[in-house]
Amino acid sequence: MQKNSYQYLSAFSGDAHLVDSLITSAFIRLNGLQTANLLLQNYLIGDDSPHHDTLTGFLGTIAAQFGTDILNFEHLIELFEFVVSPAEKVVNGAVYTPAYIREYIVQRTLEGADIGEDYRLADIACGCGGFLLTAAQQLHERTGLSYADIYRRHLYGVDIMSYSIARTRILLSLWAVCAGEEEPVFDFQLFEGNSLIFDWGLATGEQPFAGFDVVVGNPPYVASRNMTAETLASLERWSVAGTGHPDLYIPFFQIGFELLKPRGILGLITVNTFIKSINGRALRQYFADEQADLVIINFGGEQVFRDRNTYTCLCFLRRQAAEGVAYIRCDSQLIGELADEDLLRFDYAELDHPGGWNLVNTLEIQAFVNQVEGTGRPFKQLYVTKNGIATLKNDIYKFTPTGEDADYYYFQNRGGEHQVEKRICRDIVNANKLRTPGDLADRREKIIFPYTVASGMVSILPEPVFRADYPQAYAYLSAFRAELATRDKGRKTYEAWYAYGRRQSMDVRGHKLFFPHICERPNFVICQEPEMLFYNGIAIVSENMRELLVIKKVLESALFFKYISNSTKDYASGYISMSRNYLKNFGVYQFTEEEKTQLLETEDTEAFLEQCYGIVINI
Ligand SMILES: C[S@@+](CC[C@H](N)C(=O)[O-])C[C@H]1O[C@@H](n2cnc3c(N)ncnc32)[C@H](O)[C@@H]1O
Repeated sequence: MQKNSYQYLSAFSGDAHLVDSLITSAFIRLNGLQTANLLLQNYLIGDDSPHHDTLTGFLGTIAAQFGTDILNFEHLIELFEFVVSPAEKVVNGAVYTPAYIREYIVQRTLEGADIGEDYRLADIACGCGGFLLTAAQQLHERTGLSYADIYRRHLYGVDIMSYSIARTRILLSLWAVCAGEEEPVFDFQLFEGNSLIFDWGLATGEQPFAGFDVVVGNPPYVASRNMTAETLASLERWSVAGTGHPDLYIPFFQIGFELLKPRGILGLITVNTFIKSINGRALRQYFADEQADLVIINFGGEQVFRDRNTYTCLCFLRRQAAEGVAYIRCDSQLIGELADEDLLRFDYAELDHPGGWNLVNTLEIQAFVNQVEGTGRPFKQLYVTKNGIATLKNDIYKFTPTGEDADYYYFQNRGGEHQVEKRICRDIVNANKLRTPGDLADRREKIIFPYTVASGMVSILPEPVFRADYPQAYAYLSAFRAELATRDKGRKTYEAWYAYGRRQSMDVRGHKLFFPHICERPNFVICQEPEMLFYNGIAIVSENMRELLVIKKVLESALFFKYISNSTKDYASGYISMSRNYLKNFGVYQFTEEEKTQLLETEDTEAFLEQCYGIVINI
């Protein structure tokens, strides 16, 4: 069977020029184009080229994959995306934006624009030029200017990878040629560079640089753990990246905003977590300090990018004084139908910049959330929560016994039979999987726990002691030593090679109220065993059983569920996050002792809570 064209190209992914030549030549042949453009000529594989057979093979895979369809521009962008290696995608956040999103962003940013001689639009992380292509098309439609003029005067792009800039040139050149606007040479304003430190004045020779009317794009989403040392260092220039673990998309708001002319507009598709996250704290404050006119169209749990678990929103940021944020959460397919009146407005003065913005779709929900948060005391002041343990290799440390005797557990793992000393094991449950109290017994597993606990202090077993006192467990973990060393990508040194990846929740005394971290609807299960460990979920910890029973009843209510589902981060298919960051502002009504007894005994929790919170819940 013919290999598909993506796989075919991946064999050459180390040679960007060859890959680009194959894609360009295939496009030109399949579309029957003739071109004297020098840049495109440079990529053409002719009949006498040493790569001619490779091109023939590639054309075969395209015919098999796309049938009689000729290659179009979206195919071209997809092919360019596919050939970026997975490793580079992680470090540079390369993921490409679907056409309908690009079209909407560009159209909205061009709305009402007066496109004069010095009108300039930029994408400061342009990839292979998808946004710039869309912008060129719309500018051409609106002004009738030639593509050569648009490329020379109106479109600007930068990307950190030289192959991205090369591909943007190819894409824009091919588009102009297809439109019948052949030129031997197009004069592009496209630069290879790091936007975190890029000097536009230097690059364009314009001092001081006057800025852009529009900045659009899809900045890279890269968690700080995946950033290069150089990127981490250059983040320091941007005040918005100063809180929490930065993500690379966050400074792109500030960079883009500061590059705008006085009445300019920024239009981005980005991850939506900055609305509430700790690493979005400085950014939220920045928007408020700048009194930026901000529009957020949040796609919630929908996944707009193919093959990527990323939750996104569109943001439009205007350099003109405004009171606050206009917001809507909606399906991405509906953006074309949105009217300004559909968005709800929130004043910066009313939003909690350090704690996270509570943005919702209707006044009713907004009033509900405010009422709940204004009741009693905030959850964060009343309860201690813990996340489960993190060995970072649970399938090595954890097991379900297939047998036991007085001294040993027996189990199977990775195709082998193993035995370990009972004395070094602790009970553990997956807090994500608990549905009923009975699950504490039914779903109980064992975990090797190479630590001692004395007066609340958890200490790793010294290696000679571990080896001598627990030889079977030591031998078992030794067999996986190399694999354990791959945790944290091998970058971290642990207190011992057999230590857990993180030192968290290894000795959580007290009663625990377990619930999942990410779920459709949370289940709550109380555990009274102080020794019990847990993973994957969260526990509220307390010595006071009655307090736990009370908060359990509150958290199980429809009132709480309505609150959390309207204020949490949502994931795909209706999943919500129950992490502390989303629970912290939940107002816990301060019940009297008598009310606690009533709450615990009542058959109608909802009516009781509605009365306490002064709310009627319409579900
Ligand atoms: C999410 S992709 C967006 C590509 C394109 N704008 C689109 O949506 O189709 C992000 C791009 O940012 C580039 N990039 C990553 N870090 C960068 C930096 N510091 N400066 C400029 N570009 C960067 C990557 O190479 C990648 O092409």
